[in-house]
Amino acid sequence: MTSVAGVVDAAVQRLRAAGFTADEARRDAVVIARGLRHWSMADWLVQSRAEAPPDFQTMFDALVARRAAHEPVAYLLGEKEFYGRFFRVTHDTLIPRPETEGLVEAALAWLRERARHHREAARVVDIGTGTGCVAITLALEAAAPPGLVLAATDTSIDALAIARDNALRLGAAGVDFRHGHLFAGSAPPFHLIVSNPPYVPERDRDALQPDVRLFEPGGALFSGEDGLGLIRELVPAARRGLAPGGAVVLEVGAGQADEVCALLEAEGFSRVQQQRDLQGIPRVIIGHVSL
Ligand SMILES: C[S@@+](CC[C@H](N)C(=O)[O-])C[C@H]1O[C@@H](n2cnc3c(N)ncnc32)[C@H](O)[C@@H]1O
Repeated sequence: MTSVAGVVDAAVQRLRAAGFTADEARRDAVVIARGLRHWSMADWLVQSRAEAPPDFQTMFDALVARRAAHEPVAYLLGEKEFYGRFFRVTHDTLIPRPETEGLVEAALAWLRERARHHREAARVVDIGTGTGCVAITLALEAAAPPGLVLAATDTSIDALAIARDNALRLGAAGVDFRHGHLFAGSAPPFHLIVSNPPYVPERDRDALQPDVRLFEPGGALFSGEDGLGLIRELVPAARRGLAPGGAVVLEVGAGQADEVCALLEAEGFSRVQQQRDLQGIPRVIIGHVSL
């Protein structure tokens, strides 16, 4: 008899031979097995010693071979958890990152504060929506009155198809997804502009982990030699597109925060603030438009 745990043990050796550490190999092999069996961690603990079903090994081995070639686990399973919900991901979308939950937290905090003083729904746009994880999470977490009128844009038509699908599955049907650059025709003024734009410097391409460099869409990662190409366009557009009292909330890369704050201040934003991620890296920048 071959148990699921036995099949996983063999995969751990295969992943170690491909260069993964023992911890990474076991973690990934278990996650892939659980994903295939639709098992929670508790299911894994209770059931993994039972005999593997007939088709399990073939499907599992095919996924482990892809992982050995560094394809991210989220692409193998077709989903990634973000802010407590599972989002569908494909090779056309960036895989949502935990640090982007900080962007969502900052946007929600701003929206909650605004809701204390306004009865009119906040007009919000998420620029570069990818899977839709930011826009959909905002739609679901800030649905209480006064609510949101929410647009989400992307230059990737294929990413937008995934975002629309995620919105339908997760019950955020009201998001206006739009194909195009920056606002993509969504009409200002906005009260809040939120974005996790591509910000990886082109010059860092070769230094990226193979999981990212080989598998995630370049258009979601890179923006010019120093990574700030799109942000340099977004900041003045945001200044023009925001209503008085509005705000822009941006995710930036490690080492970019001071420069992005300077761009916002030069454009006339006030009370420009940085927030750190769980690693202590300044990650989220907030700029306000005075009333
Ligand atoms: C870093 S990903 C962020 C995806 C998603 N918001 C997230 O946080 O996981 C950046 C996204 O911006 C999109 N994008 C790139 N250039 C753009 C532009 N000029 N206007 C709008 N979206 C753009 C990319 O296609 C990609 O989906």
